[in-house]
Amino acid sequence: MNKLTKLLGIKYPIIQGPMAWITEAELAIAVGEAGGAGVIACGSRNAAWIREEVKKVRAATDKPFGLNVPLLDLNKDELLRTACEEKVPFVTIGAGNPIPYIESFKKAGIKVICVIPNLKLAKRVEDNGADAIVIEGMEAGGHIGSITTMALLTNIIPEMKIPVIAAGGIADGRGMAAAFLMGAAGVQIGTAFLLAEECTVHMNVKRRLIEAMDTDSVVTGLLHGHSARCLKNDFTEKYLGLERTAAPQEKMDQLATGTSRLSAVEGDIANGSVFAGQSLVRLKSIRPVREIIESIYNEAVEVLNKAPGLLIKRD
Ligand SMILES: Cc1cc2nc3c(=O)[nH]c(=O)nc-3n(C[C@H](O)[C@H](O)[C@H](O)COP(=O)(O)O)c2cc1C
Repeated sequence: MNKLTKLLGIKYPIIQGPMAWITEAELAIAVGEAGGAGVIACGSRNAAWIREEVKKVRAATDKPFGLNVPLLDLNKDELLRTACEEKVPFVTIGAGNPIPYIESFKKAGIKVICVIPNLKLAKRVEDNGADAIVIEGMEAGGHIGSITTMALLTNIIPEMKIPVIAAGGIADGRGMAAAFLMGAAGVQIGTAFLLAEECTVHMNVKRRLIEAMDTDSVVTGLLHGHSARCLKNDFTEKYLGLERTAAPQEKMDQLATGTSRLSAVEGDIANGSVFAGQSLVRLKSIRPVREIIESIYNEAVEVLNKAPGLLIKRD
């Protein structure tokens, strides 16, 4: 057991990253049963949907799971209130300042994990009672900050007392081992779970991911402060074209609205925004969640066992 597995009551220190329009009860159940921590993404949803998903998880497993609330969501108050009322084991909150919301979750007996883009906010959420933080580097899929995972691990971990979970670009056991050597207590993985059999994302997205090369990743919105990492396609070409010509923000928002759902649910991988991280090349097959989690964990253990000999030759 380490600090994170103890905190959440899980077997492996692996959190399935919440992914809007994608990570629902089915994946959270499978991840929990396999020994990780599943997270239902509440972004773009409403109270009734959340309650239904929570009910499904509770009916299927007694393993811990979490709800994720992105604070940039227009109905964030409804999502936060519902998460609190449902008294789920833990919440992850990010994409904004989580401090005003920590206390009410703690009072409801819910563990709070904040998704943090920099050291200053990391220290402030720790001082305000957060149980753990996720530091998510710009290698990650979806909405991102501007700092890499390696730099976040370097800058933030030595300053923190609460467990730190590394995210962004971790897709195998070597990445997990590297994060642990840097002092992380866990990893949050998104893109690699898109290829889980139990992941409900459209099959077109899965197929596109399997074909993707390292150079297929691109960031939209860099110039306007709403950066999102996704796979290159017709949508990103049009969006980046608008950015280059300094088109009005309104026009770009219009083009981007609804595009996550378009790819994830409807399978339009040309005109939808296909969120995915930069670590793509090793993602080659669709596998059961249990196999994904165990292969990542076992590889990390193998790599860490070899670690002492990497720097100092032992006879
Ligand atoms: C398709 C997709 C959708 C995402 N949606 C969310 C979200 O709704 N809320 C959130 O906090 N993070 C979201 N993320 C970030 C993931 O939870 C996770 O931190 C990230 O994927 C880790 O980096 P990786 O993709 O390199 O594994 C999303 C990522 C992807 C790939």
